[in-house]
Amino acid sequence: MSRLVLLGPPGAGKGTQARLLEAQFGALHIATGDLLRTHLSEHTPLGSEAESFMDRGLLVPDALIVRMVEAEIGSATSFILDGFPRTIAQALFLDTMLLAKQTPLDAVFFFACDRKELISRLTGRWTNPRTGRSYHTMYDAPRVHGVDDDDGGALIQRPDDTPAVVERRLQTYDSETLPLVEFYEKRSLLVRIDALRPIDEVTGEITAVLSTRRKTGVR
Ligand code: AP5
Repeated sequence: MSRLVLLGPPGAGKGTQARLLEAQFGALHIATGDLLRTHLSEHTPLGSEAESFMDRGLLVPDALIVRMVEAEIGSATSFILDGFPRTIAQALFLDTMLLAKQTPLDAVFFFACDRKELISRLTGRWTNPRTGRSYHTMYDAPRVHGVDDDDGGALIQRPDDTPAVVERRLQTYDSETLPLVEFYEKRSLLVRIDALRPIDEVTGEITAVLSTRRKTGVR
């Protein structure tokens, strides 16, 4: 059983790792960005409210996000949170919710990555809008350019991956999300990961940490 948070700046590789870990651990992958994009494409009221924030590289208001996450976690006891929490208010909400269920977090993996690399990853990213799977033109290219290896569907570039919106997303991350590093450090949950390394090495580091913690009984 694993209850994990993947924390880090846009483009650090949270979604890429969450998909690999989900397959490995059978935990439910909850990606708030993917959930919001599904709402957008289905033209739900939540999608309409979220769109203008996402387009501008701003965070969607906490009240909308926490309702969505609560419904998504439901009765699951094993999950990987990707892109949530992103504010102290969201983290406090999560604490309260998990305390009530007596299912505390096991670890918060912080993906440390430098800015130049983040910009290169985001501007070279191609995504399957139906499944959320990401590729990269240089680091993780699909077998055929613009086509998903898994389902053969067309890949797109996300509208918020333009240089101007990426810059804004990084600023939003610094002001709203970075304080969560200290928040989880104080709770002894934070595990720092070098996200500059290749994809398989990052997965290896995370699984090694989890396996050591299981063997030693450390939460
Ligand atoms: P969201 O979709 O969550 O975007 P994000 O956090 O900005 O993260 P990304 O998906 O851009 O990056 P990632 O870290 O998952 O990187 P990836 O694995 O794809 O959120 C979008 C918007 O929704 C937000 O701006 C906000 O408006 C709203 N929102 C979402 N959650 C919210 C919340 N909780 N509260 C309020 N608003 C919220 O990798 C990136 C690229 O790099 C890929 O091309 C990949 O192939 C490549 N790559 C990955 N790892 C490596 C590696 N190790 N080496 C080389 N290349 C790599």
